[in-house]
Amino acid sequence: MTVARSAAVLISGGGSNLQALIDASRDAESPYAISMVISNRNGAAGLERAKRAGIPAKCIPHNDFERREDYDAALLEVLATDLPDLVFLAGFMRILTPVFINRYYGRLLNIHPSLLPAFPGLNTHRRVLAAGDSMHGCTVHFVSAELDSGPAIVQGCVPVAAEDTETSLAARVLKVEHEIYPYAASLLATGRLELRGDSVWLDGRQLAEPIRL
Ligand code: GRF
Repeated sequence: MTVARSAAVLISGGGSNLQALIDASRDAESPYAISMVISNRNGAAGLERAKRAGIPAKCIPHNDFERREDYDAALLEVLATDLPDLVFLAGFMRILTPVFINRYYGRLLNIHPSLLPAFPGLNTHRRVLAAGDSMHGCTVHFVSAELDSGPAIVQGCVPVAAEDTETSLAARVLKVEHEIYPYAASLLATGRLELRGDSVWLDGRQLAEPIRL
C-alpha cells in the first residue's frame, strides 16, 4: 500500500508509544508515515528515537510561553511547515486549547492509560489499584475540548492481579498501548475511521461502543 497520510506526533517523555507508531509505519502496508515529532520538553528520550528513525524532531519548550494559547499558536506554526494530515498525541502532557483542537478536529488522536470514561487525568494506575478494580486498560480516543473525554475508538483491557503494584500494572498497560495505538492510527489513516460530530464511525457504521482488542 502506498502511504496515504502523513502524521505528526507530539510527545513529552520516553516515547515508547511514538516508537510503536514508528515501527508500525515502517510496514510496507502502512497507510501513514510519521513526518515530524515535537516535544514540549527538552531532553525527552522520544526526540532521540525520532532522530534515530530519521524523522525531523523539534522541541518547543512550554516554559518559553506564558499563555497556553501562545504555546499552541507556536505549535500550529511549526506544524504548518509540515502540513501533516493527522496529529497523534503520544504521552504529550499538555492540555491543548480549542484553537488547536478545532484545527485538527477529527484528525487528532490521544492515548490514555485507562478504560475511559473511567479515570481521566493523572496517576491512573494508582487510582485503579486504590479503587480495587479488577479490570484496567487503555483507550485511544479522538481529542475534544474536554480533557480525556473525546469519543473513544479502541480500548485494550488489562486484568488487575492481586499482587500488582503501580509499576507492574503500568508496564502491562503500556504494552497494550503499543498495540492499540498503531491499530487506531491505521484505521484513521486509511479513512475507515471517521469522527462525525461527536460520534465515531467505522466502515460507514456508527460505533455503539469502542472497539475492544
Ligand atoms: C503512556 O502511558 C501514555 O498513555 C500516557 O503517558 C505514557 C507515555 O509513555 N499518557 P511513552 O512516552 O509513550 O513511553
